[in-house]
Amino acid sequence: MCSSTLTGLNIRYGELIAVVTISADYRVIKKGGIIELAHFFRQFLYPRPMSNLITILNGPNLNLLGIREPELYGADTLSKVSTRCEQVAGELGLRTVLKQTNHEGEMIDWIQAARDDSAGVIINPAAWSHTSVAILDALNTFEGPVIEVHISNIHAREPFRHHSYVSNRANGVIAGCGVQGYAFAVQRLATLLS
Ligand code: DQA
Repeated sequence: MCSSTLTGLNIRYGELIAVVTISADYRVIKKGGIIELAHFFRQFLYPRPMSNLITILNGPNLNLLGIREPELYGADTLSKVSTRCEQVAGELGLRTVLKQTNHEGEMIDWIQAARDDSAGVIINPAAWSHTSVAILDALNTFEGPVIEVHISNIHAREPFRHHSYVSNRANGVIAGCGVQGYAFAVQRLATLLS
């Protein structure tokens, strides 16, 4: 018999939010999902070190930055963007890693990986902004701040670019500032993380 219980505790375990009832001697006596109690208590004994890493993710066709439609996206390459972000982040005590993929599943894997090693995410989802609920769902699993960047002003372009699924999750959206938008996003994350 338990003398007292703690009920309705929300415990996050992977993707699962479980509502559990815990007895005074820390046995789970009722649970709304599969959960390891040991795993729950481990997070208090061994808290994750605070990360200073910002992951900068880029979607399809941005590998051609500098070559592709320069009148819209400018002449700078993604490698130049990466160097600039590293510099700005370094001055703010942060680190950056910049990645680009043309494959939606790979992007989702990277967003999920950021859950383990990144304090914040900057994402230019490119065309997936306007199409991908899957990328929105993945970003919703990331607990830190997210800044969405668009090099061009998507609101001044074709109507199908005016809506972004990712904006539903983003803590901030920067559009139409050219590649400088990435550096602005790093600065914004520094503020949000301080
Ligand atoms: C973009 C805008 C998107 O509409 C487009 O599909 C891109 C780039 C931008 O950075 O302006 O590929 O995200």
